[in-house]
Amino acid sequence: MAVVTLDEVSKRYPGSEELAVQSMTLTIADGEFVVLLGPSGCGKSTALRMIAGLESITAGELSIGGKVMNTVPAKDRDIAMVFQSYALYPHMSVADNLAFGLRRRGVPRDQIASRVKTAADMLGLTEFLGRKPHALSGGQRQRVALGRAIVRDPEVFLFDEPLSNLDAALRVSTRNELVKLHQRLGATMVYVTHDQVEAMTMGQRICIMNQGELVQVGEPLDVYKYPAETFVARFLGNPPMNLFPALLEAMDEGVGVRVGGGGDLLRLPNVDPAALAGHVGKTVIFGIRPEDLYEHPPGHLEGEPSVSFQARVSTVEALGAETLVVLEIEGVEDVFRARLGRESKARVGDKVTVFMDTHAVHLFDPQSTKVIVHGRA
Ligand SMILES: Nc1ncnc2c1ncn2[C@@H]1O[C@H](COP(=O)(O)OP(=O)(O)O)[C@@H](O)[C@H]1O
Ligand SMILES: [Mg+2]
Repeated sequence: MAVVTLDEVSKRYPGSEELAVQSMTLTIADGEFVVLLGPSGCGKSTALRMIAGLESITAGELSIGGKVMNTVPAKDRDIAMVFQSYALYPHMSVADNLAFGLRRRGVPRDQIASRVKTAADMLGLTEFLGRKPHALSGGQRQRVALGRAIVRDPEVFLFDEPLSNLDAALRVSTRNELVKLHQRLGATMVYVTHDQVEAMTMGQRICIMNQGELVQVGEPLDVYKYPAETFVARFLGNPPMNLFPALLEAMDEGVGVRVGGGGDLLRLPNVDPAALAGHVGKTVIFGIRPEDLYEHPPGHLEGEPSVSFQARVSTVEALGAETLVVLEIEGVEDVFRARLGRESKARVGDKVTVFMDTHAVHLFDPQSTKVIVHGRA
């Protein structure tokens, strides 16, 4: 059983004032595929390398399979790691690259042969076993690097942005292969990426990091729907969530917001006023995703009060499958984005009425940036 547990794990690099990873607490279940997601420099690789034993742990406790690992050397951790740079041995054939680590560990010859064969079959590398790395494509080299991890048959796989060097199409197919591989092997996998699409599509849970801190952990769609703070709301989603300062006002029934301090008062019938104690009459951060704005009252909101505002179209990107528009509200400095249907006729300069799904509204605290309430509870 390879449950991986981080209990308040921190890392300070020598000579640095800042913590690269700050009191990270996380339990990764046996056989789970977890993704660490965040912008460059947020501490993902550092966290992974501490799990691997390639970096020392400054404070806190790391355990794998119930055993404390803080001072256990990397080679004794039953972990295999795959990096962005494949670091294959250039003078060795694919077969020897796959077998090398096992030979060094003294695994019997016949076992090595059968493990190399199984991994090569699994990864479609059988016909390349005799080739040297320079005669392989980027995707094939990447698979050899994966194969080297697979032959080890470790309890835990660690991946550090392993697909970053591949072109877009190959990234998508390799992503799917990795998910299948996980299903087949049933091993615990921790995958680091700054790519939100990889995280959303691969992770059973995603762990979002910012400046050394773990800010939210959850199933991908839950994190997308219920971001715990504005950082997550912005980081997940492309285009990201629209976020505006807005004045929260009491209305006859419930509350409304005035975006940018001016403009129409937008009623928020799905926001529970009880959750807003202390915020009414003050500025909050109002958030709505581009796909929750509509040109026409959406069918799924029939029978509900429609909430709309006037805007001017400033940019139109007709992408075929959808139309992205940038909209301006009079008197509001920040623009916002809407993801309209592919049939949208919006043109630059048009004055449009924009309808909003008030179930999909989020209000955040401007000081802490943490969520106050989600419209869709
Ligand atoms: N070997 C190191 N020595 C000093 N600082 C480091 C070292 N490696 C990483 N850092 C710093 O730690 C922080 C986190 O880095 P890293 O874990 O590599 O982030 P990520 O993988 O999310 O891009 C960054 O500020 C980075 O500059
Ligand atoms: Mg990194």
